[in-house]
Amino acid sequence: MLNGEYGEVIRKCMEILVKIGDIYNADKLIPIESAQIAGVSYLTVGDAIFSFFRMLTKEPVKVKVPTWLNPAGMDMRQWKYMNINEQFANKQLKIINTYKKLGIETTLSCTPYLIGKIPKQGSHLAWSESSAIAMANSYFGAKTNREGGPSSLAAAITGLTANYGLHIDENRNPIVYVKVESELNTYSDFALLGYWYGEKFHGKIPLFSGINDFSVIPAKYLSSAIAASGSVALYHVEGKTPESKEVSKQYVEESIVFDDIERKEVIEKLQTRLKEIELVVIGCPHVGIEELDLILSYCKDKELKKGTKLWVFMARALMERKEVAERIRKLAEKNIRIFSDTCMVVSPAIRENFTKIATNSAKAYFYLSMVENMEVVFLSLKEILEQICK
Ligand code: F3S
Repeated sequence: MLNGEYGEVIRKCMEILVKIGDIYNADKLIPIESAQIAGVSYLTVGDAIFSFFRMLTKEPVKVKVPTWLNPAGMDMRQWKYMNINEQFANKQLKIINTYKKLGIETTLSCTPYLIGKIPKQGSHLAWSESSAIAMANSYFGAKTNREGGPSSLAAAITGLTANYGLHIDENRNPIVYVKVESELNTYSDFALLGYWYGEKFHGKIPLFSGINDFSVIPAKYLSSAIAASGSVALYHVEGKTPESKEVSKQYVEESIVFDDIERKEVIEKLQTRLKEIELVVIGCPHVGIEELDLILSYCKDKELKKGTKLWVFMARALMERKEVAERIRKLAEKNIRIFSDTCMVVSPAIRENFTKIATNSAKAYFYLSMVENMEVVFLSLKEILEQICK
């Protein structure tokens, strides 16, 4: 491939992988089971992506493994409602169509695991969205580094990745032991734990103990928060995550407790006072059915207060499932809007049209609070709904 026997495009892709492998002293290339490509939203990739695409589409190459796309900058059906302009929409469409030509499934979601794309334990992947990476490594026990958009695409096209970092078992051992003494009752509690840890121990793999209930949705909140505040790609939860029994504690350098004092500190940081909320955004990462049910149960006999909007983001493939349709109808009756294919962070719709935002996602808080003139508050779903419903 590197010699160009399979064409120029594959040669270039292989060159990317070999360069990365050289930087990290990889001993070989290994086959991957799937790839997940970030770098889809025109907001984040800009026009630079088109020159990369020109190179990739010179020859008719296709991805070699199942490959999925991260959210784009707009809902493909409701972009006008989102106030997206036509120029943006056309460029976004062009990006998605190019990925499609390469044989990539246009799932446009950061939660492939909620729409049946579940990575096998022990399998090697090349995923590039940070929360999905932390989920794949931690919750599912698969193996992926934090790939960039071009490197995951190069891996998808060749079916290979360089063997370094989290592909190697001995690099997956915990460095920090965290005793969780604060009760984790809500999804937001998991987000708080992740955010707190990530800020304190940037990049270090933790082993959490004391977490009793751990399923895919709480894991999603923990994964996205820990990846956003600390670029952590792998964590273990004692007795819960697949590798927690196998990993060695001999590399642990530090032990720490997460109790109610730590929890309060991180809450105070994230819960800046907001007198008025214009828009509530839920679904970072994209929501599962359980979260829709929670919203419906809180809002049961209530209406949204006038002037407040509630937008929920979820994978289109989940939204289109039969069992979800009735829930969506009930949410629509309450003026709660569901969007697919995009999210509050990678779409310009939020940053260009709103300045006072509430979210139950620590990751969305992390990125939106960096946007100029944006005031963001992090609250639990229940707290948010109590404020905006009557
Ligand atoms: Fe997903 Fe967007 Fe959050 S890609 S993890 S919803 S920032």
